[in-house]
Amino acid sequence: MKTKANILMQRCKAIVDFIQTTYNTKEFIPLHEPRFLGNEKKYLNECIDSTFVSSVGKFVDAFEEKFASFVGSKYAIATVNGTSALHISLLLVDVQPEDEVITQALTFVATANAISYCGAKPIFLDVDLDTLGLSPNSIENFFENHCEIIENRCINKTTNKIVKACVPMHTFGHPCKIDEIKKICDIWHVELVEDAAESLGSFYKDKHTGTFGKVGAFSFNGNKIITSGGGGVIVTDDEKLAKRAKHLTTTAKLPHAYEYVHDAIAYNYRLPNLNAALLVAQLEQLDTFLKDKRDLACGYEAFFSQHALKFIKEPENAKSNYWLNALLFDSKKERDTFLECLNNAGVMSRPIWQLMSELEMFKTCQRDALINSKQLHERVVNIPSSVRIG
Ligand SMILES: Cc1ncc(COP(=O)(O)O)c(C=O)c1O
Repeated sequence: MKTKANILMQRCKAIVDFIQTTYNTKEFIPLHEPRFLGNEKKYLNECIDSTFVSSVGKFVDAFEEKFASFVGSKYAIATVNGTSALHISLLLVDVQPEDEVITQALTFVATANAISYCGAKPIFLDVDLDTLGLSPNSIENFFENHCEIIENRCINKTTNKIVKACVPMHTFGHPCKIDEIKKICDIWHVELVEDAAESLGSFYKDKHTGTFGKVGAFSFNGNKIITSGGGGVIVTDDEKLAKRAKHLTTTAKLPHAYEYVHDAIAYNYRLPNLNAALLVAQLEQLDTFLKDKRDLACGYEAFFSQHALKFIKEPENAKSNYWLNALLFDSKKERDTFLECLNNAGVMSRPIWQLMSELEMFKTCQRDALINSKQLHERVVNIPSSVRIG
C-alpha cells in the first residue's frame, strides 16, 4: 500500500523541478537571500565620501522620513536591529522589571528576548490557524480567566503582577487580527506593541502593520524583505515617544555642540549612516520586491494545489508581503519527509521555530494550552522565498 509519505517522496522530484525552474537554477537555492539591484553602491560611495559613516548623516534622516511615509506613521526612528527596536518600543510603553507581557509562543526568539531585556516576563498565548499570529480569542480568554482591572491596571490574579503590554507578531508577513487585538487590549488597559519585524509591506484592512498600537518595530536583518545587513526601526504617531526613542537609542546624550552630558543610562542602538544608505536604496525597490513576491506566492499556490498540498495564503482582510512562503502538512511525519527530500536536493526548506514556551529560559513562563501553536510547529515548512529578479 502506498503511504502518504511515499506519495510525497514521489512528488518531491516534481516539487524540486518546479522550484528550480522558478529560480532558473540547478544550484543550491536558499530560503531568502537579499537583492541589491538599485542605488546601493552609489549611496554607499556617497556616504563613504562624505565621511559621515556613523552616528549622524543625511541617509539616516532620509531613511526615517521615507520609511514613515511608506507605512503611514508620523515618525520613524532607525535602530541597529529589530531586537533593539522591540526593546526600546517596550520601554516606551513603560514596561518595567517584574511586569508581564503577553506574546505568542510561535515567534522568533527576539520577541521574547526583548521582553526579558526589560526585566519583564513573557506570557505565551496561542495563535490562530488562519493567520499564524496571536489569537484575539486566546487573549480574551486569558484576561477573563486570569486577570482583573484594579485602578486602571490589568493585574494577573495568578502572579499578582501587572500585565503591561501585548506583543502580537505578523508571522511570515501574514497580518494577524490586529484590530480585534487592539480593542481587547484597550478594554484591559494593556499597551499594544506590534512586532512587525517580518511584515514590511503587509496591510490589515488597508492599514500598514506596525501602526495599530502606540509603537511598532521592524527588522532589516539579512533575511528580511529589505536589508542593510542588520537594522531596525521603531514607528509611532506620538511626537513625545518619537523623541524619547531617539534619545534612548543614542545613549541619552543631551544635544550640545561639544559637551558630553547624558541624562539616563541608555543604549547605543542607533543605525549607522552606512546602513541607512543601503536602506534608502532598498526602500526604493520595495514595490518591485513586493510585486515579485506576490507573483511567486501565486505560482506556488497554483502548483501546490495541483499536488494536493496546502500552501498558506494571506488571511482574510489582509494583504501579505509573503515574506516567507510556507506549506502546512497533515502530520509531522509528512513534514519530515518533505524537509529531507528538499534539503537533500539543495532546495532549502525549514521547519517553524521551536515554541518559545519550550525553550529552557522560558519554561517557567505562564502559557495557555497552545493547541494551534503545537500543531503548526509540527507541520509547517518554509520554502524558498527570495525575490527572483536580479
Ligand atoms: C518576529 C521577529 N522579531 C524580531 C526579530 C529581530 O530582528 P533582528 O534580527 O533585526 O534583531 C526578527 C528577525 O530577525 C523576527 O523575525
